[in-house]
Amino acid sequence: MNNDFLELYREHLSPALTRATQLVFEKGEGPYLYTTDGKRYLDFVSGIAVNQLGHCHPKVVAAAKEQAEKLIHCSLILGSYPSAVRYAKELAKVTPGELNMFFFSNAGTEAVEGALKLARWKTRKPCFIAYQGAFHGRTMGAISVTASSASFRARYAPFLPTIYHVPYPYCYRCLYGGQPETCSLDCLEEINRLFKYQTTPADVAAVLIEPVLGEGGYIVPPVRYMKGLEQLCRDHDILLIFDEVQTGFGRTGKMFAAEHFNIVPDIICLAKGMASGFPLAAVAASKEFMGDWTEGAHGTTFGGNPVSCAAGLALLEVFREENILVKCNERGSYFKKVLQGLKNKYPVIGDVRGLGLMLAVEIVDSKGQPDGETCSRIIAYCAEHGLLLMKCGTFKNCIRFMTPLNISRAALDEGISIFRDALKSVS
Ligand SMILES: Cc1ncc(COP(=O)(O)O)c(C=O)c1O
Repeated sequence: MNNDFLELYREHLSPALTRATQLVFEKGEGPYLYTTDGKRYLDFVSGIAVNQLGHCHPKVVAAAKEQAEKLIHCSLILGSYPSAVRYAKELAKVTPGELNMFFFSNAGTEAVEGALKLARWKTRKPCFIAYQGAFHGRTMGAISVTASSASFRARYAPFLPTIYHVPYPYCYRCLYGGQPETCSLDCLEEINRLFKYQTTPADVAAVLIEPVLGEGGYIVPPVRYMKGLEQLCRDHDILLIFDEVQTGFGRTGKMFAAEHFNIVPDIICLAKGMASGFPLAAVAASKEFMGDWTEGAHGTTFGGNPVSCAAGLALLEVFREENILVKCNERGSYFKKVLQGLKNKYPVIGDVRGLGLMLAVEIVDSKGQPDGETCSRIIAYCAEHGLLLMKCGTFKNCIRFMTPLNISRAALDEGISIFRDALKSVS
């Protein structure tokens, strides 16, 4: 049966989408996925950091079913409905600071487009500063600020003009040869250099940053860097946009990664974990900031879908009822310790990093250089033995672990044991 589906896929679905495996899935339950030929896989991908509560959490399923029986779609353009306004109200309680107004859309890339548009609309300034290594999506605006892989951009130029990319604070491979203890934040200084040579701050609408780099390698920036960046933005009257598409909804152990730095950005982009697997995204800002975005200045047919919003409400309820953040931090620190232990034993692991359950290891060769091939072999071994993992990083040499935030210790240990065997097999 699997082969029939694969053939049909090849016949009718575009080859442009990367496919990490050739598996054909039939159902998901908690941390497990099941293929059409009856095999069970432990899923440490979670729909690419989406399924914070695992697959098909009963409360999410019930809420979506109940909503689908009443109203599936009518468009927020035609009129409003309870699930969307209730979700916005609940969301406002958990977003940082006064970020209490939302423009709903469907995917991360749309949230980024919306944020860029809002920033230009508010400031009437043309330029943006974004990061080498950043991933913000595949639509034309989002790909213009994305710089995690040149291959994503090949043959799509010209991009949005007036985007300037600066280095992300990637301390493990510091571009300036620095060490954390003696770091003088040369990477932050790049922005001042930019202001000297390429653009004046008066032309820059916003700095767009992932508070933990996602596709670019699960890199956690130093607090000093983030604080310095916040100050620089304030000093020059430049907006600060956090792309929390991957880091949001508890993934890093806080509801939003901004909290790790005690920063309230002007705008945040949300998607992925927002509705437990249903498509939903948002641009978030304060009412004071977003409240004068004039009617018709932005739009969407599907954004804020009633079923997605009902699932989002259920997600927030489960977060409260089941202490999801506490669980995420417990499991995350346990898992990170185990990975650090494995690093001491297996030199192919050059670095262990991440926050909460947004964890990764960087795979290196004997000279400490990125080793994408060994990384692929480890992932292939794990898949063969029933554990699904995915890569990240510009050098395609990092393995990221995106378990459900409520994963049990037993399931976590099952995954760790397969991963340990994979390390043995390549060492
Ligand atoms: C930080 C970040 N922003 C934006 C996106 C784009 O989201 P989507 O694939 O839903 O368009 C992603 C996707 O991985 C992401 O990680």
